[in-house]
Amino acid sequence: MNNINQLGDQANGLRNMKKDDKVKVIAVTGGKGGVGKSNVSLNLAVSLAQKGKRVLVFDADLGLANLDVMLGVRVTKNLSHLLAGECELQDILVKGPFGITIVPATSGTKNMVELTPNEHAGLIRAFSELEQQFDVLIVDTAAGISDMVLSFARAAQDVLVVVCDEPTSITDAYALIKVLNREYGLFRFKIVANMVRSLREGQELFAKLSKVSDRFLDVAIELVAIVPFDENVRKAVRKQKTVVDAFPKSPASIAFKTLANRAANWPVPDTAGGHLEFFIEQLILPEA
Ligand SMILES: Nc1ncnc2c1ncn2[C@@H]1O[C@H](COP(=O)(O)OP(=O)(O)OP(=O)(O)O)[C@@H](O)[C@H]1O
Ligand SMILES: [Mg+2]
Repeated sequence: MNNINQLGDQANGLRNMKKDDKVKVIAVTGGKGGVGKSNVSLNLAVSLAQKGKRVLVFDADLGLANLDVMLGVRVTKNLSHLLAGECELQDILVKGPFGITIVPATSGTKNMVELTPNEHAGLIRAFSELEQQFDVLIVDTAAGISDMVLSFARAAQDVLVVVCDEPTSITDAYALIKVLNREYGLFRFKIVANMVRSLREGQELFAKLSKVSDRFLDVAIELVAIVPFDENVRKAVRKQKTVVDAFPKSPASIAFKTLANRAANWPVPDTAGGHLEFFIEQLILPEA
C-alpha cells in the first residue's frame, strides 16, 4: 500500500515538474501595420525578463526584420541561414537587454515571405530544441493575415491582438480574428488597446471590437491591457531601447509591466489542440 502511495506521489511530483518546465507561447498580432506589435512584444519580453523569466522573442516578420534594429543588437546569422540548412536555430540566437534572447529574421529578403506551409511547420518544430532553455516564447508577427501570420498565431497558446483607435485597425483586427476563428478554429483572443488617450478610450475601443465579434463570431475576447499613447515609447525607440528600460516610470511602461504581471499567470494548457504548436512535445496529444 505504502509503495503504491509512494508511486502516486512520485508521479504527481513528475507531473508538477513537467508543468514548471513548460514554455508559455504568446503570439503578438494585430492585422494592421504600425499598431505597436513589436513594441508590445519587446516591452512584454523585457518586463517578463525583469521578473526572472527566461524569455525568447521570435522576430516572425520574416520579410522586414526589425527587432534587432529596435534593440541595436548585432546579428551575424539569421533565419535565412537556418532555412538554407547552414546552421541550427541555436546558432542564430542573439542576446538582447536584460538577458532576453532574439531569433532574428532577415530584412528585405523576398523569398522569406514566400515560405511554404511546410517550411512554416519546420520552423515551428525547430523551436523544440530550445524547450529547456526558456520559460516564455513571444512571437512578434508581421502585419496582415498571410498564411505565415496565421500559422504562427495558431501554433501559440495565447494570441494577443494589438489594436489602436483607428477604424482600419479595428476592421483589420476583426478580419484577423475572423479568419483565425473560422478557418483555424481559434476562439480565445486577448486584446491590447494601444496608443489610447485615456482608459475610457481603451475600454470603448475594446467595446467596438467586442460588439462586432460577439455578433458575428463564436469567440471569447478579453481586454488584457490598455497602453496609453506615450511620447516616451518613440523616444525609447530612437535610443534603440525599450520604454520599460529607458523610461520605467512612464505611463506606457507601467501598462506594459501590468500586462507582464498578468501574462506571467496565464496558464499553459496541458493538452495539445490537435494541430501543430510550438513545443508540442511538452503537451499531451489528444488520443487518435
Ligand atoms: N503606446 C505608444 N505610444 C506612442 N507611440 C507608440 C506606442 N506604441 C507604439 N508606438 C509607435 O508606433 C510606431 C509603430 O510601432 P511598432 O513598430 O511597435 O508597430 P508594429 O505593429 O510592430 O509595426 P509593423 O506592422 O510595421 O511591424 C513606432 O514608431 C512606435 O514608437
Ligand atoms: Mg513590427
